[in-house]
Amino acid sequence: MSITVVVPTFNEGPNVAELVRRLDEALEGTPGASVLFVDDSRDDTPSVIERVAAEQAASGGVPVRMIHREVADGGLSGAVVEGLRAVGTEWAVVMDGDLQHPPELATVLATRGREAGLDVVVASRYIGGGDAGGLDGHWRRAVSTVSALLARSMFPLRLRNVTDPLTGFFAVRLGALDLDALRPRGFKILLEILARGKRALAVGEEPFVFGERHGGSSKATLRMGLRYLEQLASLRFGRMSRFAIIGGMGAVWNVLILWALTVLGMHYLGAAVIAAAVTISVNFALQERFVFRDLLGQGRFGFWSRLAHSVTFNGTEAVVRTAVLGLIVELSGFWAVPVQGALLAVAFLLRFVFHSQWVYR
Ligand code: GDD
Ligand code: MN
Repeated sequence: MSITVVVPTFNEGPNVAELVRRLDEALEGTPGASVLFVDDSRDDTPSVIERVAAEQAASGGVPVRMIHREVADGGLSGAVVEGLRAVGTEWAVVMDGDLQHPPELATVLATRGREAGLDVVVASRYIGGGDAGGLDGHWRRAVSTVSALLARSMFPLRLRNVTDPLTGFFAVRLGALDLDALRPRGFKILLEILARGKRALAVGEEPFVFGERHGGSSKATLRMGLRYLEQLASLRFGRMSRFAIIGGMGAVWNVLILWALTVLGMHYLGAAVIAAAVTISVNFALQERFVFRDLLGQGRFGFWSRLAHSVTFNGTEAVVRTAVLGLIVELSGFWAVPVQGALLAVAFLLRFVFHSQWVYR
């Protein structure tokens, strides 16, 4: 079996020679293997790659090719897709160019995929034997953990066996992909591949230790983090927007019922309690029917238990949110309206994660 190693690069000059040296050793004994850089660099990285490619050709080592893009369409993800389009082998391995991904594992991933009849083999930091070591700082580690949890709650079926859907290191069988269906943007190309396609792919995982960067600096930015949220929203547009619409409609029911009952002469507090009870029940029924229907038969909870969990969480969330609103407004003196807006957005995500990750799991 032959493989192509696809390496997206953006200003990685100091790392190219070392990466190729180690890949060359790892790929020895894999006939027809090659390395393909997809480069968007704005510095001298392309000439470094060209020089290393010439050296490889002269020494008879693993061939090195490069696609250099003047327009970095789709960033890292776009580069990976462009690379995958140009691959001639049955399997490709995608990995970073900064040696945070051990090159020695490239062949292990692809071999495992072929022997086990899989479509994708994910190199994971989060299964036994793996480690996120090279993620600098507690903050980035926490962001990484939360981001993975978010992705997994949005795709409980597709990502059931994928502990690290945001890794940039994986092997993929080209025949299993529909590259035209992807909308690559930002950093999270594996998630795009696993979540976007019509068909669920057969996925396996191998542990790996995320190392330190060899040279240069990281290109991850806050903007890429925001792009990730955009990507999740676009991937889950259906489920998330139905969840949001039902939640928004709940507020409208609530006010209408309160209005009708008080007009009929009821005390407003009693009316508010009835309005809340009706809204909560109706929302729950709609959510079962229109948001999580595909998961109903698969989870661990029966109907009443789901209802109890959902009502308890939403009730608690509302109380806690109101207390937090009071705290922030009192302590900071901010205007309550935007604070409430931000809190509602966070609450929306929390409710969504809680329901898909707990109630309907
Ligand atoms: N062609 C191209 N175009 N390559 C890019 C671009 C781009 O716009 N942006 C980044 N890259 C390349 C880098 O040169 C590097 O080879 C690789 O993509 C990863 O970029 P890093 O800057 O090293 O990112 P990181 O280490 O912070 O993030 C890595 O780990 C994340 C998980 O924590 C990546 O593998 C991410 O995909 C992964 O989600
Ligand atoms: Mn890196």
